[in-house]
Amino acid sequence: MHATETYPATDDQASLQLNADGSLRHLLTLEGLDKALLVDLLDDAVQFLRPAGSLPARSQSLAGRTIANLFFEPSTRTRASFDLAGKRLGADVLNLDVNTSSRKKGESILDMIYTLRAMHVDIMVVRDASAGVPAYIARHVDDHVSILNAGESDVSHPTQGLLDLLTIRRHKGEFSGLTVAIVGDILHSRVARSTGHGLQTLGVGELRLISPRALAPDPADLPFAKLYDNLDEGLRDADVVIALRIQRERIGNLDGIPGIDEYFANYGISQARMEGAKSDAIIMHPGPMNRGIEIESALADSPASVITEQVTNGVAVRMAVLERVSRSMD
Ligand code: CP
Repeated sequence: MHATETYPATDDQASLQLNADGSLRHLLTLEGLDKALLVDLLDDAVQFLRPAGSLPARSQSLAGRTIANLFFEPSTRTRASFDLAGKRLGADVLNLDVNTSSRKKGESILDMIYTLRAMHVDIMVVRDASAGVPAYIARHVDDHVSILNAGESDVSHPTQGLLDLLTIRRHKGEFSGLTVAIVGDILHSRVARSTGHGLQTLGVGELRLISPRALAPDPADLPFAKLYDNLDEGLRDADVVIALRIQRERIGNLDGIPGIDEYFANYGISQARMEGAKSDAIIMHPGPMNRGIEIESALADSPASVITEQVTNGVAVRMAVLERVSRSMD
């Protein structure tokens, strides 16, 4: 963070991301977005899916637009899929290299934004370790510019939430009868928050959050969810199981966090532990995955696993989001 910049927490993110007519201008959080908009985005994303082995969907709907990918935290999936999504829609895509960007030399976020404005960037895709950065940028850009949150500290990861929703919908259909279990480091997980908020909006039957007590969330974060510290109880009759890695980069003090062997024994998802879930339950993981810690390697590669499908759906969802925000730019 630049010495003079702070990114105050705000409660107006939900309104900040919508235009006066209710259309999407920025995507900062799934919290507060209504069901109709989420369903529209998922329906749009489906239009970009193609059978494995065929050429990917392409259009020129973003021709002339410029997208800047600003990733100030590591990423494989999100960055690559935003890059592909922009290019497949015909946009010019600028991938700023974190390690060589002038933010490393102390340049403020605002100076970086004003520099990109001078280059006519229309959409900024932002990942940052500090909470509040995407909304802070959204408050400082010109009217026609959109900000897309690509992962904000432990707060929110809305496109990951959307791709998780799309993956679940394609396998399970209606959300109302489903039990979804998210297992792992819920406390530090932006994915659990975004996927959880989306599931709530789409009316999931039951959301369970399973973790050691030291990694349990504040119950006020996702008040509709049921918290478990026993894996077998939490997995019982689940339709969908989402494994999360331990976010060691966000944990200052490891006291109370089990070691690897103990963690896998108590909270690792394995074929044996999945015996308690429904027989047709699907296994998901947002990645990056630590095989043998939060998930058994054989289970990650099993027919129940839809982990690589999540990646495919991620490109389609990001194409849908890019198209949607670009509609209000003309
Ligand atoms: N799921 C996810 O955000 O992965 P990356 O960190 O690789 O982008």
